[in-house]
Amino acid sequence: MLTARIAVLVSGGGTNLQALIDAQRRGELHSGVLSLVIADKPGVRAVTRAHEADIACAVIPRREPGFEEKVLEALGHYRIDMVVLAGFLGILSADFIAQFPGPIINIHPSLIPAFCGKGFYGLKVHQAALDYGVKVTGATVHYVNEVPDGGKIILQKAVEVQPGDTAEVLQRRVMEQAEWVILPQAAELVAQTIMK
Ligand code: GAR
Repeated sequence: MLTARIAVLVSGGGTNLQALIDAQRRGELHSGVLSLVIADKPGVRAVTRAHEADIACAVIPRREPGFEEKVLEALGHYRIDMVVLAGFLGILSADFIAQFPGPIINIHPSLIPAFCGKGFYGLKVHQAALDYGVKVTGATVHYVNEVPDGGKIILQKAVEVQPGDTAEVLQRRVMEQAEWVILPQAAELVAQTIMK
């Protein structure tokens, strides 16, 4: 059976990358194989996670010229069929999206269309949710298009906000209860659709 070759783009801790690695080990992610990790800065924990899991890893600094060209080159070199943005904090250009022929999916730590788009990333998303006073938040996996966080939704999971939550506490709960659950599920679903 054919399996989709998956590249994972990361910027930091890589806990979502770890959730993908663990799902692959458990056999829950089986229609795709994690084939490349691209980190947009050196020295991040996600790079260590890739090495520990024996997955090829490239570090391509996002602030340096030619970032997107270098990423596209790496995706071609590793014959990548689909891309997962797992805690990747940059925004890919419309040009990049048009040039990569396969699906690109992203995990966002809110229930889109709330608290998303340019400027909403990491802890800022959770702080905005707390400031607004929402009682339910969550995570969303969606296709990436030219609108930041604007592509069609694949999976969502809701998480309750608790009295006294800080952005850090809420971030951790959203990761544990939603992100690490739905990202591997969505990666499997999308891999199945492209290898049909
Ligand atoms: C995760 O909460 C992810 O949803 C978020 O950054 C964190 C990265 O954690 N992504 C965004 O905010 C994208 N807009 P990780 O590196 O441990 O997976």
